[in-house]
Amino acid sequence: MDYKRTLITSALPYANGPVHIGHLAGVYIPADIYARYLRGKGRPVLFVGGSDEHGVPVTIRARKEGITVQQVVDRYHELIKSSFERFGISFDVYSRTTSDIHHKFASDFFRTLYDGGKFVQQTTEQFYDEETHEFLTDRNIRGECPRCHSAGAYGDQCEKCGATLSPDELINPYNAVNGNPLTKRATSHWYLPLDKYQGWLEQWILEGHKEWRTNVYGQCKSWLDGGLHPRAVTRDLDWGIPVPVEGAEGKVLYVWFDAPIGYISNTKELCDARPDKFGKWETWWQDETTRMIHFIGKDNIVFHCIVFPTMLKAWNECNEGAQYILPDNVPSNEFLNLEGDKISTSRNWAVWLNEYLDDFPGKQDVLRYVLTANAPETKDNDFTWADFQARNNNELVAIYGNFINRAMVLTHKYFEGRVPVCGELNDYDRQTLAELAGIRGRVEELLDAFRFRDAQREAMNLARLGNKYLADTEPWKQAKTDLARTGTILNIALQIAANLAIVFEPFLPFSSASLYEMLDMEEHAWERLGDTDLLEAGHQLREPRLLFEKIEDTAIQAQLDRLARIKKENEAAAWQAPALKAETNIEAFDKSDIRVGTVLECQKVKKSDKLLQFKIDDGMGGRTILSGIAQSYPDPQVLVGKQVLFIANFPPRKMMGIESQGMILSAVNDDGKLVVTTVSAPVRNGVQVG
Ligand code: MF3
Ligand code: ZN
Repeated sequence: MDYKRTLITSALPYANGPVHIGHLAGVYIPADIYARYLRGKGRPVLFVGGSDEHGVPVTIRARKEGITVQQVVDRYHELIKSSFERFGISFDVYSRTTSDIHHKFASDFFRTLYDGGKFVQQTTEQFYDEETHEFLTDRNIRGECPRCHSAGAYGDQCEKCGATLSPDELINPYNAVNGNPLTKRATSHWYLPLDKYQGWLEQWILEGHKEWRTNVYGQCKSWLDGGLHPRAVTRDLDWGIPVPVEGAEGKVLYVWFDAPIGYISNTKELCDARPDKFGKWETWWQDETTRMIHFIGKDNIVFHCIVFPTMLKAWNECNEGAQYILPDNVPSNEFLNLEGDKISTSRNWAVWLNEYLDDFPGKQDVLRYVLTANAPETKDNDFTWADFQARNNNELVAIYGNFINRAMVLTHKYFEGRVPVCGELNDYDRQTLAELAGIRGRVEELLDAFRFRDAQREAMNLARLGNKYLADTEPWKQAKTDLARTGTILNIALQIAANLAIVFEPFLPFSSASLYEMLDMEEHAWERLGDTDLLEAGHQLREPRLLFEKIEDTAIQAQLDRLARIKKENEAAAWQAPALKAETNIEAFDKSDIRVGTVLECQKVKKSDKLLQFKIDDGMGGRTILSGIAQSYPDPQVLVGKQVLFIANFPPRKMMGIESQGMILSAVNDDGKLVVTTVSAPVRNGVQVG
């Protein structure tokens, strides 16, 4: 296929919190590199982003922060959008799924499939909270994980062991918001019958796209091998796009139905506003000479390779004329961990982009560089602050920055900052220039294959080449006897410098901009990469400035201290019952039945460093309670005989094979230790506190 343009999409982040380095490394930096690269080549590109503002995650955040859902999405949409801008993510459009254009577009899309008879309607029993009169979505149901038996697994996933779950599998499911036990009620929904598209998908992916990354292809294959089932595309929820069907009051489109349509509606929004530059949206979505690439993280693979293509295919079947294109590739990344642990928004285990920018102003490119150098392209990878510092100091500063600085300073020293004439070349010069000439081919091959980390390494190799060239030819020694030779060497070094500005532009756009400025040179098209006449003899350079600065140990230590503090806080919170953890509000507190009891026995749980097992005289026949405070009580015996406070009405949970019937209250002291709260004078066991 002779493609004429490229449509680049990047997963729409949920507007339920700020974005972090995992988002950047997994999706937005690779998408941005690719977009910048193609633009540099003069290819027509449209790079779409936007916030995903529907779904349960934003509603949970709203309850947590005690503000409206609209306020949540407004706040985080702005924060996310500005973080991306500040990191130079060059979206052509960054809109939101609460826009009117999107609501109408997604609604019409659903209606087309509905009218075309593409959905099946099904009535099923769903979990229901009798007290709040609401059906619960997967994310709002929690309970014990059927696989690893940790408490507080979500209805769709256990964050402990990573198992994908359905709410029906949870042991003792409860409402994550208020801890209420759940019943079941019948409700009716529309399903997209993926099973009917199984054969078509197998053909299209398994036969037609063997070139996709093995992690992507493999995940698709395992879904297909497992057999596809119809998937509900509507939900009982009051936040989202109303289902445009009579009798569907109180139902909205499932967030994973409307969000990918956001790629289309955001394109439409842009094209309607800038037809001069981008033409018609249909050209980007319904013209087979457009090549579409989805940049996503691995948890999004099934939606982008199976569900969304099926939606597009079903739409195409309803229409005789226009036909949507399908993605040509879905270069999904794996996950980035932080200092050995999974990045987690709820545990605050992340480096937030807005905070990074406060701590390291002007160092956007450093993070871009490190995240690409460590990109989780083929497997999960780890971000560490030590590596961040090392890559900055040993690569950006010592190789790239150092080379540019030497070439600039020497030119100023011997030639008043004018590009010297290139005289006669020797073999070593020729060999160096031959290597320079090959750079474009090497980098393009890698970028075309979405191998961004290797491509960036090639770019850095050019800086290495420059450094080595200066070290080997020693122009400062030549200057004493042969200024013409010094000139030739510096001319070659400056041509390499100019090439570095071009080759690094997709990766480190801010540094390239400063380098262009220092060289006082027009931005050159990618096509000139490898050329040896980018700077003419006699051209006046500006004053040298440092492209990168060393990062000191103190700055790194501050980050490590922050993480250590968060880890401590998380450990203190880990033992708290999930209902309170999910939702520490008055409502939940009101519902807790807090009572007094005497500790009869207390011992460490075998094979656990955290858990203590209490036997409590609760005035009601006694109960066992587990509490994650072992590290604060090396000798648990000191607690025996004490009267303590416990929550009596939490659903029982099993941990390490032992059932805990409640929760003991404790507080964190200044050393970060958990201290059990006691009563100051004897009280009858079982008495309620309040
Ligand atoms: N909001 C989703 C997530 O963060 C991604 C949505 S991608 C889209 O996992 F295709 F639906 F837009
Ligand atoms: Zn589990």
